[in-house]
Amino acid sequence: MLTQEQNERLTKVGPGTPCGNLLRHYWQALCPAGEITAEKPKKRVRILGEDLLVYRGDDGKVSCIAEHCLHRRASLYFGFIEPGGIRCCYHGWKYDAEGKCVDRPFETQKADNLCLPSYPLQELGGLLFVYMGPKTSALPALPRWDVMAREDGKRTIVVLPEHTCNWLQIQENTVDSVHTYYLHGHMSAVNNLPTLATGRYFYRPIESYDWGLCEWGVTKTLVYGGDKPEIEVRPPLIFPNILRIPEGPLEALHFRVPIDDTHTRIFWVGFVPGKGTGTTFEYSPDEAMEDEDKLLQTFYGQDRIVWETQGAIFDRTLEVLGATDKGIVMYRRMLAEQIERVERGEAPTVAVVPDDAKDTMITFESTTRPVADGIEHVFAAN
Ligand code: FES
Ligand SMILES: [Fe+2]
Repeated sequence: MLTQEQNERLTKVGPGTPCGNLLRHYWQALCPAGEITAEKPKKRVRILGEDLLVYRGDDGKVSCIAEHCLHRRASLYFGFIEPGGIRCCYHGWKYDAEGKCVDRPFETQKADNLCLPSYPLQELGGLLFVYMGPKTSALPALPRWDVMAREDGKRTIVVLPEHTCNWLQIQENTVDSVHTYYLHGHMSAVNNLPTLATGRYFYRPIESYDWGLCEWGVTKTLVYGGDKPEIEVRPPLIFPNILRIPEGPLEALHFRVPIDDTHTRIFWVGFVPGKGTGTTFEYSPDEAMEDEDKLLQTFYGQDRIVWETQGAIFDRTLEVLGATDKGIVMYRRMLAEQIERVERGEAPTVAVVPDDAKDTMITFESTTRPVADGIEHVFAAN
């Protein structure tokens, strides 16, 4: 259980909020790079409570600036792209790629110090990532996650519908290891859902579970009993807002990107090694929450109904935690500690790529092995 104040510190993402400041120290997935084209060069994106404009300049360079004009806040989405920047459609103020106001028609005074926020972009694996953190001399390296950086197979990126809930309840699900038994296994079995074939894997007695800390986030281990006792070691929760997981033949990443305090965008990326090449994009249709029966047909939908029904911002003053929530507590503690570092003016220390490893691909192992091979590091459930 958290106090209301603690809950707000961990969930709110806007500019100047404790968690918002921390999240801004990490590159965030913004949109598919292919959405910004010569034919359609402008896109609005809301992220971390800020409205941004991503646009392709007449020199072909893609830039990211705040969406609303400094003058009287009209949207620059309707602006005119010109050599050297974009001109507001309302009264013609013009901004360069760094957001600096370089022209104010009809004004008599120069305004050298007027500047919109602007943010650096990088592309990896077909997605644009944005860095909204402090403008220090050196930007942190964009981590080269294996699923994004590998070229020896086929990558699929799915832009999921907007989720009407705070990002943290989605991310906490990553270390909520035992939820798979009832939400996926039992749900599939009692309703005879299409997810049953895969759901059987999770529909086994859970003997024990454990979590640990690592340089990337929180590790998780689960021991299944029953006819085929196995130890499952998953890739860690990647701090602060990424899930890395195997999904059958796929290696997957889920980027849980806060749109604002009560909405979250998810980019699902799947990579199949050795099968084809290149990256394809899909846009998942919005499955209205009213159509709950439809949502229950997929693992994703099963997760989504619990995330969204926990509330717009889950009120953690009301929760009753148990031993199975140890991973969630460890993750929240890590989040609180990293927020405090940033408040002290220090850089985060988790999931940070050292400068001399910035070109190195980051890979993760996932194993499921017979219990007979050893469970000494796993404590018993209670
Ligand atoms: S609102 Fe943009 S120039 Fe006036
Ligand atoms: Fe799940």
